[in-house]
Amino acid sequence: MSSQPSQLAQSIKPSPTLAMGARAKQMKAEGIDVISFAAGEPDFNTPGAICAAAQESMNLGQTKYAPSKGIPALRKAIVEKLRSENGIAAEDHMISVTNGAKQALYNALLATINPGDEVILIAPYWATYADQVELAGGVPVVVQTTADQDFAPSAAQIIEKISSKTKAIMLNSPCNPTGAAIDRSVLEQIAELAIKHDFWVISDEIYEKLVYGFEPASIASFGPEALARTVTINGCSKTYSMTGWRIGYACAPKAVATAMASIQDNVTSGAVTFCQAGAVAALKLPDSEIEAMREIFDERRKQIIARLRGMPGVKVTDPRGAFYAFPDLSHFIGGKLKNDLELAEYLLNEAHIATVPGSAFHAPGHVRFSFACSPEDIDRGMTRLEEALAQI
Ligand SMILES: Cc1ncc(COP(=O)(O)O)c(C=O)c1O
Repeated sequence: MSSQPSQLAQSIKPSPTLAMGARAKQMKAEGIDVISFAAGEPDFNTPGAICAAAQESMNLGQTKYAPSKGIPALRKAIVEKLRSENGIAAEDHMISVTNGAKQALYNALLATINPGDEVILIAPYWATYADQVELAGGVPVVVQTTADQDFAPSAAQIIEKISSKTKAIMLNSPCNPTGAAIDRSVLEQIAELAIKHDFWVISDEIYEKLVYGFEPASIASFGPEALARTVTINGCSKTYSMTGWRIGYACAPKAVATAMASIQDNVTSGAVTFCQAGAVAALKLPDSEIEAMREIFDERRKQIIARLRGMPGVKVTDPRGAFYAFPDLSHFIGGKLKNDLELAEYLLNEAHIATVPGSAFHAPGHVRFSFACSPEDIDRGMTRLEEALAQI
């Protein structure tokens, strides 16, 4: 029937993380004291210098279309950042600025994979990865990691999943939802596999600055052959508390970078002009300002992990980066609550705490708690969780 929505429209699911956050906001608007652990965004204000730079840009009349690849000043700042901080031999023609890292990821997939190609994902993974692979016509192939290995994949697990159809692997270190990080030695082995089997690495490094005793490494810095197969993704949302500004970026070999810009030309055009001016200021922010935010997250991380570890039946690994705790709550599933979706519903309805069920991340039995909220909310929320779990 011609009046039916497309097959794609019928298969696409709404983002579960955004959905839970929206429900929590709705309940709050109705006057319910919901504590939200669902949001994937820092609770800090965007630093003043960034806002001032965007305001100045607006005052200067920089309110017209920006080039699809990004304004020259931002591309230059990104090249300098990738060279000095990540050791990546970036050049201007490799950079594209996008409407959030989400768009950079999708543009990268559209520019690298063909329909039917396999893309290796490391589970638990951010839900968007699998959905974007499918939107791009690809087939997700999942490497399942477990809490026993701190959710970090080994090269052997990846080798098992490589086939003649493998076109790309998506990496996210540190990882949403687990906080897992991939050690440099394993990244080096993954780079060798990508070179040997000639597939793309899409390396999402958006949480690189939110790390706790872990030294992140960029796979694109491992020499020319790795650089030639890697699309490095990053953005301003998490590090600078700029989720609403929608500024992400990618660094890719020329042919892919050019294709990504052409895709963007035809879908959204460039990112907001004055937000890009703000992003230039963000990339020039003194390290001390970012370090202050990281230290606050580290305190909250210790607080939430200690509380979770104190609850009978709860198992949780130590996040090495990002701002999520990802406990295994399977002990509470199987009786009146059949799965983690029902458990998250129960926690929202009975304890008024919003979380995201692990199934959204290909990790049933787990629940994600963002600790990008105040210490008081963590404390109150954990007390509610403890009481609610005890009643199951
Ligand atoms: C792993 C990961 N990559 C990318 C993004 C997207 O960030 P942006 O706000 O820049 O689109 C997120 C946001 O939650 C994320 O968790």
